[in-house]
Amino acid sequence: MCGIVAYIGPKEAYPILIKGLQRLEYRGYDSAGVALANGQLMVYKKKGKVQELIDFAEELPKSSTVGIGHTRWATHGVPNDVNAHPHTSGNSQLTIVHNGIIENYALLKEALEKEGHVFTSDTDTEVLIHFIEEIQEKDQLPLEEAVRIALTRVVGAYAIVVLDKRNPNKLVAARKASPLVVGIGEGEYFLASDATPMIEYTNKVIYINDNEIVSIDRYNGIQVKTVNNEVQTPTIHEIDMKIENLEKGGYDYFMLKEIYEQPKTISDCMRGRLNKEDGWIHLGGLEEYSNRIVNAQRFIIAACGTSWHAGLIGEYLFEELARIPVEVEYASELRYRNPIITDKDVIIAISQSGETADTLAALELSRERGALNYGIVNSVGSSIARMTDAGSYIHAGPEIGVASTKAFTGQVTLLTMMALSIGHKRGTISESQYRQYITELANIPAKVEEVLKTNDHIKYIAAEIQDKPNALYLGRGYNFPVALEGALKLKEISYIHAEGYPAAEMKHGPIALIDEEMPVIVIATNKSAYEKVLSNIQEVKARKGYVIAIVTKGDSEISQVADATIEIPETMEPFTPLLSVIPLQLLSYHIAIMRECNVDQPRNLAKSVTVE
Ligand code: F6R
Repeated sequence: MCGIVAYIGPKEAYPILIKGLQRLEYRGYDSAGVALANGQLMVYKKKGKVQELIDFAEELPKSSTVGIGHTRWATHGVPNDVNAHPHTSGNSQLTIVHNGIIENYALLKEALEKEGHVFTSDTDTEVLIHFIEEIQEKDQLPLEEAVRIALTRVVGAYAIVVLDKRNPNKLVAARKASPLVVGIGEGEYFLASDATPMIEYTNKVIYINDNEIVSIDRYNGIQVKTVNNEVQTPTIHEIDMKIENLEKGGYDYFMLKEIYEQPKTISDCMRGRLNKEDGWIHLGGLEEYSNRIVNAQRFIIAACGTSWHAGLIGEYLFEELARIPVEVEYASELRYRNPIITDKDVIIAISQSGETADTLAALELSRERGALNYGIVNSVGSSIARMTDAGSYIHAGPEIGVASTKAFTGQVTLLTMMALSIGHKRGTISESQYRQYITELANIPAKVEEVLKTNDHIKYIAAEIQDKPNALYLGRGYNFPVALEGALKLKEISYIHAEGYPAAEMKHGPIALIDEEMPVIVIATNKSAYEKVLSNIQEVKARKGYVIAIVTKGDSEISQVADATIEIPETMEPFTPLLSVIPLQLLSYHIAIMRECNVDQPRNLAKSVTVE
């Protein structure tokens, strides 16, 4: 939700900011803007994508070695040029970029209006910069002190960077519940919502913590303080991120690239953690708290969206393989009720970005109640990764397409390894079963590769249903969450209304929707429920629905009844989601492309949901 970037150093800031904004565009693309200072303040902002800003600013002066930039996902105020960031103070000296929400902005605005402040936008951010100006002017305070005092009176979430036209040698930034990373280069500094805008220039970063303010002086370096004025000693981390991961590498869209990366990302997730020859799984985070996890009374999985679907698969895996009761919660719901959580519970938070506000809040709640917090996260150094007691990265590399694909299979792979390892330790699976599972899990990347070869066939099926207004996805057992995920993928990138249902539930309502206009995508690979799914398909066919069935290779029965089939290789039932989700990702992708949708940046969405 909103991306912020800033630069101070010897180079021209504008090209660095623009490239950074393009990398951060996955966080929001309602508007983009920059502010530059070289004696005068140059603020350029435009509704729409970063390209609109580039076109707008083409002929305008941009020379400056300091600057701040923003790409917006609108919260307060419609997306337009005026509401775009950066926002400027009343005296036109200060300018700010902000990611987050200032909850008490209305009260602050009212008080400031009484002091004579006039606002031009509908945003909470403009209120914040006027507030900082008011504090600074009143006592002629240094910028960092004015920011600090302002933040002690602000309620909400923020990552901000402030630039003062009168001192272009300094940037002041702060964070609370929205990510902020400082990059340290050779005599130059970067600030951004994640490390992607800075990786060409440095691999040294500092992750700013909640309630910290960082002042970066061109000549005197970095100082970090808390909002309570305590000086902090920041830790410098070295990150390992490759530029090729941030580029499309010959694919038309990041989403397609990321779908095709899955054989590799699933292997990367297992690398060094699963050994087929010697038959072991070793997850560092798990071993560290092995006793508490293996003897947990219950797992509570908290996540949102696609990560929540991975969590549902986790429930099936943990209950079947490790015999630990599991509850899967929408993080947003868990945080706002009064759940029973004790120190015998383990909370597993699943998040690609590691920044989802609701998931973070659920973890805070569970920590207060004494549970062990375990994170399954993709984004290295993210807030969830840093706040959990233990955890495992999925190692999928940066996921840029807004629709999550490779992160989902990474999360499911990680959950599968966890369930097998815990089941083995608890003795709920025998040694020989454990070995069989490990051998088969190691074969999954090659099997995903095989599924990807059906792409042309899937494209053909996509063409058949591209104009339908609705779609129904059905699955049972391990494939029920896959049905939910397939429906989410379709609706978010093609804007077709789609629902996922447990196949047997269809007759309790959704069957009323079925007619010749309704494509029904059935995941029919479960050996344990094959006959039952076949009956469900027949029920759909009897009502003239158009059935697309995902079947196991060599299937003859369902293939005869369905209108179209997509084959996936045979595997052990707990691993089928890792294969059955692939055709659904490709189906959504092709349908969206045929409908001329921007699959990487679907409307109204953002990759990292850092507001409630
Ligand atoms: C769907 C999608 C979202 C995210 C959700 C959680 O394709 O990407 O539903 O899964 O916003 O995000 P993370 O995993 O970053 O917590």
